[in-house]
Amino acid sequence: MSIANEVDRRRTFAIISHPDAGKTTLTEKLLLFAGAIQIAGSVKARKASRHASSDWMEIEKQRGISVASSVMQMEYRDCVINLLDTPGHQDFSEDTYRVLTAVDAALMVIDAGNGVEPQTIRLLQVCRARNTPIITFINKLDREVREPLELLSEIEAHLGMDAVPFSWPVGMGRSFGGVFDIRHNHMRVFKAGEERRNDQDEIIEGLDNPAIASRFGEAFAKANEEIELIQAAAPEFDHEAFLAGQQTPVFFGSAINNFGVQEVLDVLVELAPKPGPREALQRTVQPQEPKFSGVVFKVQANMDPAHRDRVAFVRVSSGRFERGMKLKVARTGKEIRPNNVVSFLSQRRELVEEAYAGDVIGIPNHGVLHLGDVLTEGENLQFTGLPFFAPELFQAVEVKDPLRIKQLRIGLTQLGEEGAIQVFRPEAAGGALLLGAIGQLQFEVVAHRLKTEYGVEARMMPSRYNMARWITSEDPKALRKFMDANAAHIAYDVVDAAAFLVSSQAQLRVAQELYPAIEFHAMREHA
Ligand code: G4P
Repeated sequence: MSIANEVDRRRTFAIISHPDAGKTTLTEKLLLFAGAIQIAGSVKARKASRHASSDWMEIEKQRGISVASSVMQMEYRDCVINLLDTPGHQDFSEDTYRVLTAVDAALMVIDAGNGVEPQTIRLLQVCRARNTPIITFINKLDREVREPLELLSEIEAHLGMDAVPFSWPVGMGRSFGGVFDIRHNHMRVFKAGEERRNDQDEIIEGLDNPAIASRFGEAFAKANEEIELIQAAAPEFDHEAFLAGQQTPVFFGSAINNFGVQEVLDVLVELAPKPGPREALQRTVQPQEPKFSGVVFKVQANMDPAHRDRVAFVRVSSGRFERGMKLKVARTGKEIRPNNVVSFLSQRRELVEEAYAGDVIGIPNHGVLHLGDVLTEGENLQFTGLPFFAPELFQAVEVKDPLRIKQLRIGLTQLGEEGAIQVFRPEAAGGALLLGAIGQLQFEVVAHRLKTEYGVEARMMPSRYNMARWITSEDPKALRKFMDANAAHIAYDVVDAAAFLVSSQAQLRVAQELYPAIEFHAMREHA
């Protein structure tokens, strides 16, 4: 098959949700329906072991496992689907955001009882900033949940895009009769059970079919009215608007009962975009170009602390990767010839033979690959857009034994390069280094890794800051003046970009008003 054909059949997406909405369940069902796993419960079992214990050994072990389970590849209807997991719960961290830069679409899972929840909103903001197309799955209709119309308007309000229902629930909870497929004008009758597949479902044709009305009575009458209402009020589905991130198709179902899952797979294949062009500073790179290029969007330390090896997750941007290929790291000009590159086919870590634009490959290395690095066959390319987000949690860090200050700095630099944490050096002399994170667990992991990998006992102390903004200005003098006037609040990150640290939104607003020549950025792109 030609490169163009291979690219055409790739679909790469992330699955996002608030904890407990049903992401793990849906992921597993998607894999099951695509035939990628045989036994229900295997993804779930991994999740259970991941959260059952906060024991450090366990976290160490899980780091290995999560390398394998954070990217899943499956084949469905001639398409190769790459599903990237975004950790929720206490694992939530900056990594989660960066994963979204490696996908072409997102699948949002919403608990119909809870609507759009905080963790989802944060992830959605990143999708919105990049105009990533979003497919919405409203889960748990087998329970007494919120009114579908209300959920729909909540999604619209949070997404800032039109929600276009592709299906509509008939009843819910005990009276859940099934979903009406609006596009195909038939009803799929609900039957509970984890073992069944869609092709065993009972289908009734036609919204105006008296058989539906008599069988589902009041629930159907209500659904019918609502469908009429949304058909009058909601816009028609427009594929272009979906691809531009202006419309989201909405599905209702129950993941645990395998209900509504196949529709999601079908829509991914039919509507989700194939890999598109990627912007580099030098030029636009097309996915079907013959030469390989890819970006490191995530670096994960591997299981064995003694070897300190890391797996760099590379999203292929163009061309074809082949085992044994020589690659150039654009940042350093160094050549590497990785032989043990892994793919993530149906959750097993397997040696990759070949990969195409849209795929994710894992390259084990000892630190030659950094976050944001570009790999090519020789061309000097720098892709734009790998974001670093302003941390929301801060801690000051000091070393217990002053003689190990150098190790602390080395350790933090390396962990910072890996993206495990952000490290800020205060402008004011003598200030302790500051660590910035998005999830609390990041601090714990860093303290643990400093100890086991660098032999440093770090002391973490509370910090008064909880907000950072990178600062720039077209007027260097104005910038200098601002930094001098606020020296106690200025710190530099790993690439020496200056940031302004504050403890409240109000403080930031005052600064913005007083210094109109300064720009405050909540996000910095890897340069
Ligand atoms: P997450 O990855 O988003 O955190 O969610 P997960 O899939 O683990 O699902 C969270 C809980 O919701 C699980 O129950 C799961 O069984 C349940 N769930 C998922 N889909 C549905 C659904 O369609 N209907 C109903 N009623 N429940 C659903 P749990 O009690 O936390 O775990 P478990 O005891 O089932 O393992």
